[in-house]
Amino acid sequence: MFSKRPLCIAHRGASEVAAENSLKSFQLALEMGADGIELDVHPTKDKKLVVLHDALVDSVTGGSGFVSDYTLSEIKKLDIDAGEKIPTLDEVFRLVGDRGMIDVEIKEMDMAELVVREIEKHNMIHNVIVTSFYDGEIQRVKELNPNIKTGLLLWYIPDDLIIRAKKAKTNYILPNIEDFTEELYHKVKESGMDMIVWTVNKEEDMRKLIRLGVLGVITDKPEIFIRVRDLMMYI
Ligand code: G3P
Ligand code: CA
Repeated sequence: MFSKRPLCIAHRGASEVAAENSLKSFQLALEMGADGIELDVHPTKDKKLVVLHDALVDSVTGGSGFVSDYTLSEIKKLDIDAGEKIPTLDEVFRLVGDRGMIDVEIKEMDMAELVVREIEKHNMIHNVIVTSFYDGEIQRVKELNPNIKTGLLLWYIPDDLIIRAKKAKTNYILPNIEDFTEELYHKVKESGMDMIVWTVNKEEDMRKLIRLGVLGVITDKPEIFIRVRDLMMYI
């Protein structure tokens, strides 16, 4: 029996059965029973927040070029999959509401203020976390609104991790599963933070993280994670 039930966070929504980062993928993830969704945001030329992974529109649309060269109305003319459009963060907040948590990954510098204002506008402070590989962005989020939970994403484990995390006043550390160790987990916990691990798709990794009681797991396979977790929690 495990004391903590790690959150199932669907990476880019239910991205294996619908276009990644689409409203459909987020809706399906919630229907599958995910506790939350992960998504990526970029600003348009007219400073609206849109949800897609790359800074370029090329990989998910027939268009080309940087998101930041398009206005929102121009972006909305592009199709992503089966008639879906690139969603705005506003649309995702309206869709999800209080049905789940949302991990908003800031993908570029100087976006913190736009993201914080959007969260505040929707009263989503208590079911959103803001994550980024950019320390400065999550630090800025905390400065703008200390009540918003933040997480520092890691490509590798830096020697000065705890110093960096404290400076940014982050709540969570998000290592890649390839870098995850139990030692790292305990170090993070002892430093007063919690951990969310990405992108966890193998059942053996899921079991290890559930056993330890990490706060959350970002996965491309939410249904598998839920099955594994529920089996372990009720043994
Ligand atoms: O949230 C972690 C993960 O999403 C970061 O990698 O490239 O999928 O945005 P990426
Ligand atoms: Ca991401």
